[in-house]
Amino acid sequence: MERLDKLLCSQGTLTRSEAGRVIRSGRVTVDGTVCRQPAQKLDPAAHTVAVDGRALGYAEFVYWMLNKPAGILCVSRDPKAPTVVDLLPAEQQRRGLFPAGRLDKDTHGLVLITDDGDFAHRILSPRHHIPKTYHAVLDKPLAEAAADAFRAGPTLEDGTQCLPAQVRVLEPGETPLVEVVIYEGKFHQIKRMFAAVGCHVEWLKRVKMGGLSLDETLEEGACRPLTPEEKSSILTENLP
Ligand code: URA
Repeated sequence: MERLDKLLCSQGTLTRSEAGRVIRSGRVTVDGTVCRQPAQKLDPAAHTVAVDGRALGYAEFVYWMLNKPAGILCVSRDPKAPTVVDLLPAEQQRRGLFPAGRLDKDTHGLVLITDDGDFAHRILSPRHHIPKTYHAVLDKPLAEAAADAFRAGPTLEDGTQCLPAQVRVLEPGETPLVEVVIYEGKFHQIKRMFAAVGCHVEWLKRVKMGGLSLDETLEEGACRPLTPEEKSSILTENLP
C-alpha cells in the first residue's frame, strides 16, 4: 500500500508538495472517482490512478536502453549541458532516473537508465564482474604484447592494477577497430588501458553489458524500454 501523493511523485516529475496540491485541486481520480486526500493509501497494482483523465502506467522501476551519442553527459542532470536522462521522452521523465554506469562525454553506445538503485548496484559492483564490451578505433596497430598484457591484467600508467581483460582485432589496419571486454569500471579505463600499451583511442563505443547487446536498430540518441528478458540478461554473463 502506498500514499497517493507518494505514488504520484514516484511516477512523474512532481515533488511531494506539488503532488499534494494536484490531488487537493481535484485533478486526480482513483478508479474513476475524484480523490482529494494526498494521504489516501492504495495498492497501485490494484487501482487505476489518473491525472486530468490520463491513467498512470504504474511501474515500480523503469529500465531504458539508450544509444548514447558523443557530446552528451552521462549523468542525471546538469544545469548547462544535455544529459542522457534528458534524451528520454518528456512523458517518461520521472524523479530518481540515473545512468547505471558512466560513459565519457565523447563515448558512444549502450547506456542503461533506471531508477532502481539496487539493480544498478548489482550490475556495477566490481564484486559481480559483469563484462562490458567496447569497440574502439586506435591510432596505430596493436602490438602482440598488448593482448598478452590485457590478458594478464594491465597495469595503468599511474600504477593502478586492472583485472584481466580481453582484446581482439576486428578490422586490422593502420587505425584498427578492436573489441575489448573489461570486468570492472575504473575511470577512463579503456583509454588508460590502451595508453599503457602506447595507443590512443580515437573513437569508443560500448556495445554490450553482461548478456545485453545494444539494439543496433536504435538510432544514436534514441532509447526504448528493456524487456524483462533483456533486463535479466545483463546479469547472466560474468567473469569466465
Ligand atoms: N572507458 C573509457 O575510457 N571511457 C568510457 O567512456 C568507458 C570506458
